[in-house]
Amino acid sequence: MKKNTLIFISLYLFCLNLTAQQKDVIRIETQDQAIILTAESDDKVIFQYWGRKVNSTAPFLNRKIKGQPDTSDDFASQLYPAYGGRYYLTPALKLTHADGVLTTELVYINSENKALDNNRTETVVHLRDKLYPVFVDVRFVAYQRENIICQSVEIRHNENKDIKVENLASSYIPLHAESYYLTHFNGTWSSEMLMEEEELTHGIKVIETKKGVRATQSESPSFLLSIDNPANEDTGEVYAGTLAWSGNYKLSFELDETGKLGIISGMNSFASTFTLKAGKKLQTPEMVLAYSAKGTGQISRNYHDWARKYGMMHGNEVNPVILNSWEGAYFTFDEKTLTDMIDSAAKFGVEMFVLDDGWFGNKYPRNGDNAGLGDWQVNTKKLPRGIGYLADYAVNKGIKFGIWIEPEMVNPDSELAKKHPEWIVKSGKRDILPMRNQWLLDLSNPQVQDFVVKTFDDVIALSPNISYIKWDANRHVDNVGSEYLPAGEQAHFWYEYVKGLYSAYERIRAKHPDIQIQLCSSGGGRLEYGALKYHDEFWASDNTNALDRIFIQYGTNIFFPTIATASHVSTSPNHQTGMMTPLKFRFDVAMSGRLGMELQPKDIDSEDYEFATKAIENYKRIRPIVHLGDLYRLVSPYGKNGWASHMFVSKDKKEAVYFAYSLKYHGRTTYLETKLKGLDPQKNYKITELNTRGWNRSFYGDGQVFTGDYLMKVGINLNIGNPFDSSALMLTEE
Ligand code: GLA
Repeated sequence: MKKNTLIFISLYLFCLNLTAQQKDVIRIETQDQAIILTAESDDKVIFQYWGRKVNSTAPFLNRKIKGQPDTSDDFASQLYPAYGGRYYLTPALKLTHADGVLTTELVYINSENKALDNNRTETVVHLRDKLYPVFVDVRFVAYQRENIICQSVEIRHNENKDIKVENLASSYIPLHAESYYLTHFNGTWSSEMLMEEEELTHGIKVIETKKGVRATQSESPSFLLSIDNPANEDTGEVYAGTLAWSGNYKLSFELDETGKLGIISGMNSFASTFTLKAGKKLQTPEMVLAYSAKGTGQISRNYHDWARKYGMMHGNEVNPVILNSWEGAYFTFDEKTLTDMIDSAAKFGVEMFVLDDGWFGNKYPRNGDNAGLGDWQVNTKKLPRGIGYLADYAVNKGIKFGIWIEPEMVNPDSELAKKHPEWIVKSGKRDILPMRNQWLLDLSNPQVQDFVVKTFDDVIALSPNISYIKWDANRHVDNVGSEYLPAGEQAHFWYEYVKGLYSAYERIRAKHPDIQIQLCSSGGGRLEYGALKYHDEFWASDNTNALDRIFIQYGTNIFFPTIATASHVSTSPNHQTGMMTPLKFRFDVAMSGRLGMELQPKDIDSEDYEFATKAIENYKRIRPIVHLGDLYRLVSPYGKNGWASHMFVSKDKKEAVYFAYSLKYHGRTTYLETKLKGLDPQKNYKITELNTRGWNRSFYGDGQVFTGDYLMKVGINLNIGNPFDSSALMLTEE
């Protein structure tokens, strides 16, 4: 080789190296995972990697992806691709500049990294448009111990006129693998969070809602993505995300021609173009992300740990056993009906009585779902001595008292609807379409926010003995429009409604930090972390049929913890499905969450009464393990064998509780065999069967001691072959 050529090559390599040295490597890390970005001033930020932690990040500086000469030219590998430049896939950001220009090219300014405390690190990557004064911050908060990363985005600008933000995702994730298996969660009223898994093919798969309120009733802003194989409980790489947002959302999974998958998650841009003024900010909700190299079981345990600490209220205190009046009394009750229920609740060992719908409205009494919503005054005919009397009555019996509200809604037949027609969501002069006979109040209006806060305050003020509120929301948005928002900002409704709701939650929580609040929206219609943050628990479904609940809770508990999963024993035949199931089965299912009852106690015969009282006593023993321990799923109800099983293990592994359910008839000679998980192999565990009836036992080893090693390697077998047979076992270290 000629001398000149050699000098040239050396110089070239030297320059390359210099360039490489100017690159920043941005690491977002938790205990077991890392997201790695590389960035160079005035160039695109590259999303290099998300997976297990790596020892050295240096190789990322010169990494080439799929033989492409320069990864910065690769639209799909950017941290936050905007519509502009070499564009070929759905962008995370799309806006129109003040001068009408449609494109944006985001480049790197710098990044900041700081510890928020000894568990949380915040990383903010600052980006700007190459030509326009538009600034985008991509923010990550990494939770070390829980292995969760929250991602969100903020945009602002100094253009001389408004810009139109048409799409602003919370997160964009590029992945590259042989194949991708997506699990998503769909359903409808009474069948929420049912799971479907599919292998993604080229093109775009979209999970979204445009319903605005009750946004998670039919679909969930949550996903599991398993790499190369269908998702497995204990093995394989799994990515997961759940959007913390109570309004319209969209998750899209785009598999491009190079085999890369781009996952975009955030608020739904449909009919929502946001006019952003100079100097103002627009902020996205957080996408709560998780990664596991050991299957979905670990993903769930990470979410549960995170949720108990950061994603809900009072997540480190166990929740009380509740008797809720709804299925036992519906709208038809008087004082005596309720005090009788309270008497029975106290005898059962129940710890709280909750008075559901039907207690308010005088001019338009709430005797059905067609009147009274909005008029939050005690119905004096039904309850002449008021809520104070009932709450005191309960407390004197040694149990707490809670009450139902639905403050965002109004019946046309109500004093409120007549007084404030301007507060109702409506589309100009078009008809307002009722749903469950009710209309929606316009929470984008600060006066409505004040009304909602005042409703909460006033209801709490009905008695110092109210310690729990069930907050419901029983319709979604249609014929959208706000009399409060200006004509040019009607599309802001979707965003401003949710912001108004959060502002009301904030004000309420500032005043009432200790009140327990249940998140309910026709069942699981508002099940996401944007709202759950302000609540103590949620009502996963109006379907209390134990068989259906096994499926609903299986999906729900992938992302949301059991401590927050209100799960009630109701009567048989079940009011939603007509199905008849044994009381033991109903208890064994409900005891995997926050146990409650939702029935008329006086309908229970004496034998069942004794069983229920004993089951509640058992539940109180296992409750700390169910609420605060680790969930291990053993047998999926979606499997072909017609059984389901899972267990909870206390953090110190000294105690565990195991549940199994038979979903069909298995024939006489077939039995369920399961290997247990999460135990300490060195420990000895005594197994005691709970909720037994008479001499019936499902487990041959009741009262015997086994090593953790044996239980996890050999396992146990159970005689639960008939439909709705079930087993509940407690394990205690000997
Ligand atoms: C919704 C809730 C139920 C009950 C009724 C009352 O459907 O999900 O639990 O509170 O409203 O109307």
